[in-house]
Amino acid sequence: ISIDAQKREKKVSPTLHGIFFEEISHGGEGGLYGELIQNRGFEEVRIPKGTTLLNGFLVPNPGPHYNLPNGQASDWKMPWVLKSDWPAWSTQTSGVAEVTLALTQEKPLNEATPNSLKVTVSGLEKSGKASLVNEGFWGIKVDQGKTYKLSFYARTEKKYKGPLTVSLQSEDGNTLGSHVFINSFKAGEWQKLSCDLVANAADSKAKFVINFGSTGTVFLDFVSLFPAETFKNRENGLRPDLAQYLADLKPSFIRWPGGCFVEGITVESAPNWKESIGPVEKRPGTFSPWGYWSSDGLGYHEFLQFCEDTGADAMYVFNAGVACEFRSGTFLPDAQLPEVIADVLDALEYAVGPATSKWGKVRAANGHPAPFPLKYVEVGNEQHGPWYANRFNLFYDAIKAKYPDLKVIASMGIADVNRHTLDGMKKLDIADEHAYKSAYWAMNNYDHFDNYKRGDWELYVGEYATNAGVGSGNMLAALNDAVYILAMERNGDLVTMSSYAPLLVNTNDVDWPVNLINFNNSQSFARISYYAIQMLNQHRADQNLATTVQVQPAKITKPAFAGGIGLSTWDTQTEYKDIQVIQKGKVVYSSNFDKAEGEWEKVRGTWGVKEGALGQTAEGAQLFAMLKDKSYDTYTLKLKGRKLSGYN
Ligand code: AHR
Repeated sequence: ISIDAQKREKKVSPTLHGIFFEEISHGGEGGLYGELIQNRGFEEVRIPKGTTLLNGFLVPNPGPHYNLPNGQASDWKMPWVLKSDWPAWSTQTSGVAEVTLALTQEKPLNEATPNSLKVTVSGLEKSGKASLVNEGFWGIKVDQGKTYKLSFYARTEKKYKGPLTVSLQSEDGNTLGSHVFINSFKAGEWQKLSCDLVANAADSKAKFVINFGSTGTVFLDFVSLFPAETFKNRENGLRPDLAQYLADLKPSFIRWPGGCFVEGITVESAPNWKESIGPVEKRPGTFSPWGYWSSDGLGYHEFLQFCEDTGADAMYVFNAGVACEFRSGTFLPDAQLPEVIADVLDALEYAVGPATSKWGKVRAANGHPAPFPLKYVEVGNEQHGPWYANRFNLFYDAIKAKYPDLKVIASMGIADVNRHTLDGMKKLDIADEHAYKSAYWAMNNYDHFDNYKRGDWELYVGEYATNAGVGSGNMLAALNDAVYILAMERNGDLVTMSSYAPLLVNTNDVDWPVNLINFNNSQSFARISYYAIQMLNQHRADQNLATTVQVQPAKITKPAFAGGIGLSTWDTQTEYKDIQVIQKGKVVYSSNFDKAEGEWEKVRGTWGVKEGALGQTAEGAQLFAMLKDKSYDTYTLKLKGRKLSGYN
């Protein structure tokens, strides 16, 4: 390696490293968000807006939103299988006592969260005990001497004698802390009950228990338990160990709330920022395309607060009027765009408008009169094509007219700009490229950004990770990630920002193969890629010097095929017909993978639920099986007549 210390090349961007949060793999709900009760509002079985349940499948409602951007009707469907009507809740009885549960929408606590749980207790006068149990998010971690703040709403039809005893119980049934509510029950009205539970011992798999002292019927809603200590001790705050990992990365910005999460499974059920602020019990929640509900306790305000608390600039991503094309793909007609634009401008006003403005006032009423550090706003996620360019132009103009200093980011699909994804955009500040690569890609394509088309915009690598051929993440992945970052550093004139994805995974519900920080209810650890990013950020060079590297080209004999192929086909949405692997002009492998259109649709449907993330689809697995034993040093993958050179 020869370095010419006198010859300065490009500067490295000071904002290169940020973080990207998405509600995937319970990264927020049962993760970063401090709430310890799962399904606290009994809303988790609700069918997402814009869908109907038909023969065990969710299908998008017909109507003006039904068509895809290309005018075709969506034929998406998603299996909807419920193991229970009250996930995470169960009963515990002894003797002849019985507890019957039913979900009800009678006299709801509020209109936004219609369900509550009707608990009917009988037999207690003869013998036994009757309790309702919440398992938390695969267990509740209780620390000795710590305080836990409980609150819940209860309603009884007739005067309920009680008492109600609430407790934390260890896995083997010992009481770790309890409180008794006596004679506090008025008939007919919802009442909020709250108390502190102080733990006399520790357990990593504890549960929360409500014990009923007499027979009768009690309605319950919004049962919430928080550790008294949260990150920066904010109320309704964040789990300290996970938030600290993120803060320790010293991110220059935080992008949220997604990802596919932003797209939603239908346009109607996509995130709605206005419904994610204000009293937590009035937030209806958002169905994550990753197959579960977010309560939105970690809502728009809380995220802006988290950005401020970590010293990061906020990057808000909004839905551009289209749902994830791999789910329903439902699409808001252009005529409805003015409403979407107005809603986005309201969100921006909430974040940075003066405290005297309409939404600035709401922010002040929610405890934050000063503007939040919002600096970037992104239009949709992974959308591209002429219809997107059209839409982007409208959003860009509207945002810039009111907030000229905000940087507006265009999504690009999973592709680089050499694939015309920016065509039709009149002006943009930043383009967001997503880059999930397999082992050795970064090393073999070290010059990826050197040869990149440049324009009057910057490049943000909004999602990157080496996530195929590296198990669930290992040293090889970290080396590839580090090399990829160096390639970005070398091109500081172009690549000004980046964020690894996904960030967080609860190991009890994994939606994606490789993630940065792994955790369960009681433990967390950051993978080595985390430390690679942290090191490169803490010791970030600011100036590249002219460098020449002489190296023997490495011959890679076993490329990891699966992820790349999954990526290509996902991106092009092509059928897997006639795949050819061409080496030096010669066809060395040819498949006759002839899938009918209908079958492809079916696979897409199941993909949307949980069957597996990218690279784990049935097709991905089949392709991998076909190709894994073959070795090629250079190749071209040809899909249905379209060439995608260089993908591995
Ligand atoms: O990070 C996981 C997913 O990958 C994101 O939701 C999506 O934006 C990308 O394709």
